[in-house]
Amino acid sequence: MEMEKLVALCKRRGFLFPSSEIYGGLNGFWDYGPMGVELKRNVREAWWRDMVTGHNEMLVPPDAPATYEMTGLDCTIIMHPQVWKCSGHYDLFHDYLVDCRESKRRYRYDQVVGRWVEAKGRRAFIATAALGQEGLDDTQRKALKLFNLRAKHADQLQWDGPLVSLTTLDDFTAVLGPDAKELGTLTEPREFNLMFETHTGPIHDEKSKAFLRPETAQGIFVNFKNVLDSTRVKIPFGIAQIGKSFRNEITPRNFTFRSREFEQMEIEFFCHPNSSPSWYGYWRDRRYQWYLDLGLAGDRLRLRDHDAEELSHYSCGTADIEYAFPFMAEGEFGELEGIAHRGDFDLRSHMEGKLVRQGDELVVEQDEDGKPRYRGSGRDLQYYNDQTKERYMPHVIEPSAGADRATLAFLCEAYREDEVPDDKGKLSKRVFLKFHPRLAPVKAAVFPLVKKDGMPEVAREIYGQLKPLFNVFYDEKGAVGRRYRRQDEIGTPFCITVDGQTLSDGTVTVRDRDTLDQWRIKKEDCVAEITQRLGAC
Ligand code: GAP
Repeated sequence: MEMEKLVALCKRRGFLFPSSEIYGGLNGFWDYGPMGVELKRNVREAWWRDMVTGHNEMLVPPDAPATYEMTGLDCTIIMHPQVWKCSGHYDLFHDYLVDCRESKRRYRYDQVVGRWVEAKGRRAFIATAALGQEGLDDTQRKALKLFNLRAKHADQLQWDGPLVSLTTLDDFTAVLGPDAKELGTLTEPREFNLMFETHTGPIHDEKSKAFLRPETAQGIFVNFKNVLDSTRVKIPFGIAQIGKSFRNEITPRNFTFRSREFEQMEIEFFCHPNSSPSWYGYWRDRRYQWYLDLGLAGDRLRLRDHDAEELSHYSCGTADIEYAFPFMAEGEFGELEGIAHRGDFDLRSHMEGKLVRQGDELVVEQDEDGKPRYRGSGRDLQYYNDQTKERYMPHVIEPSAGADRATLAFLCEAYREDEVPDDKGKLSKRVFLKFHPRLAPVKAAVFPLVKKDGMPEVAREIYGQLKPLFNVFYDEKGAVGRRYRRQDEIGTPFCITVDGQTLSDGTVTVRDRDTLDQWRIKKEDCVAEITQRLGAC
């Protein structure tokens, strides 16, 4: 599937719009339209229901080490700045960027690729921000221009190796920047903190500086004790949160995949250190299965364990759930969710102060005077088991998902084209979104075949019965074939049509979006039929 087709459909049918579009949009920000808001709500609600409210704490789920409890939180976006100092985000949450002195463009250092080429006795590294075949074509075009060659003389370009990252180069003097005409215009890479800054109160100075949260997780850690003290949860248990996060990404791109404002669905699962490896395995598999169950099947979805070098300094295990988005180069996958074994890093940081690794140990980082560089809260965040009388620092397993990335993956996976007969029986192309019924923005549409003979009245009555239970849509405008196509394009699983036969025998047709099968049911059975069919999916 070409991404352009999905982007066009998202605009046409009201899934996604560029934010502030009438003013030209704002890079890295997206608005969800009338269909998009329902789709994303369904993703969030499926997650919350499956992970939190639908979880039965009295049963051991298949493959879980034991029974466990789940609860939720909704924390603020702006938190005490010390949170980010102790969590490490203040010092460590950065990307490297390079600037181009000529084009004034800015790039993420690790996202620029290029290849070496020699022609007319000169050698240059031609950089591009495009990947795969697009990157190869782009570098070829630029190299021809740089060496003043016509396309028919492309064989004079002596390419040396494949596309490699700019990070593999020691100096940039022979580099042609992605949007430059001259060599050597890229600056040295420099750090760029991804947290958005703001100020609390009327005075804008260092003291009033605050940050928009770059992840929801920290709100959970700093409320760990509050949850323990205000509920009767016992370890093992998880706290879930869904909410906005903000990252000032250097190069937001690929539709909503890398945005500057996005939503996360995160769980911090607290357990005894001895059982944490088994809980890590449980959550890793459980989260992967969640995407499979909602329709991200096949070879486009994978669970990838991180290599030892990829692991964060505190992590004993991390896996990513990845999806082969259509905008990625062949064989490449993009992260939907990370599942990390975080040990006791986060709770200890908020108790003792920012931690750094010293050999095999995590110790509080000190300043020149031997004092903690960033003081923790000083609160005792250990857990006390009143049955075993054991006091310990819990370990944490963190399944951290992006609601927007999941929504985008479900959209990409759902996009289908086929050929079906139109109103006159002629085969024509149909575009439809094959959403899992739980995710479909509209569950059923109700149509009168024509706007007369009492059909609209019957259709409105059926609509009225379904509406309190499901998001349903009523449509009486235009040819019925066109109405079906409109519903197919937004992924409505079922269409109910009131026709001439309804008036004589009280039956209506139900049409299935995917198979196009049609069958008749009694008009009074519509609620039961749709309930049963949605429930069975
Ligand atoms: N607390 C851990 C954490 O935040 P992360 O891998 O940085 O981990 C978790 O983010 C998830 O949030 C990612 O897997 C992705 O789905 C989503 N995410 C992160 N940055 C994003 C961005 N710029 N745009 C959209 N989603 C993003």
